[in-house]
Amino acid sequence: MNLKNGQRPLKTLERVLSKAGLGSRTDARKWIGAGRIRVNGKLIQTPDHWVDLERDRVTLDGQPVRAGKKIYLLLNKPKGYITSYKDPEGRPTVYDLIQNLGRWVVPVGRLDRDTSGLLLLTNDTHFAELITNPDYKISKTYLVKASTPLSDEQLDQLRKGVMLQDGPTQPATVRRVRDSGKYSFVELTIREGRNRQVRRMIEAIGSKVLKLVRTEIGGLRIGDLPIGTYRELLPGEVRSLMPAGDRLHCPKPPQF
Ligand code: URA
Repeated sequence: MNLKNGQRPLKTLERVLSKAGLGSRTDARKWIGAGRIRVNGKLIQTPDHWVDLERDRVTLDGQPVRAGKKIYLLLNKPKGYITSYKDPEGRPTVYDLIQNLGRWVVPVGRLDRDTSGLLLLTNDTHFAELITNPDYKISKTYLVKASTPLSDEQLDQLRKGVMLQDGPTQPATVRRVRDSGKYSFVELTIREGRNRQVRRMIEAIGSKVLKLVRTEIGGLRIGDLPIGTYRELLPGEVRSLMPAGDRLHCPKPPQF
């Protein structure tokens, strides 16, 4: 957002449309290009046209576009689903599981196709940025089935940090859940969100991930939500995920 003309809140047309929760930024560009958008009755076909949120009237096909109600979903993602909107290979995506929502949401961070469990989705881009910002160190907990039994020394390596191609990992919290002779099951909590981090950490100690489930983000647990289904977060759950500073300085709590 830009503050121009004596602190008036200005945003680009493309951003106003995508923030309204009607579609992605790509969709917004298409609508603008197709001449479906008017600002104060005037046809505008440039996505970076400045819009004054308090004064300008934006319409899509003649219907007023208003700021979308904030929505926060907790999905229990099954294995085999990807977290992007469209897949050139036609594989299932998480959007197949939230059809008819009527609002545009984006995943908060990513989960690999073969990882199941807790995935947050929202149309609140500020919230999504906070949760994924590594500076806030929001914890993420995973249940790991390793392809080999893991010794106490291997678990200690994970706790202290292991060296990956993109640098050392920060200390992790690790709990042995059970051993089945052939495999070890461990719970691993990390406060970073690097690409395929858990899989690479387990490989760094000489084993492989056979199964990976995210069970918790920042104290919010997946609980007994059936796989493939989602629920809306409660306002208190949203606030509890916000870093404390943001909660205090946020002028108004998230809207529902
Ligand atoms: N770490 C991984 O390796 N994969 C995920 O999906 C999430 C964390």
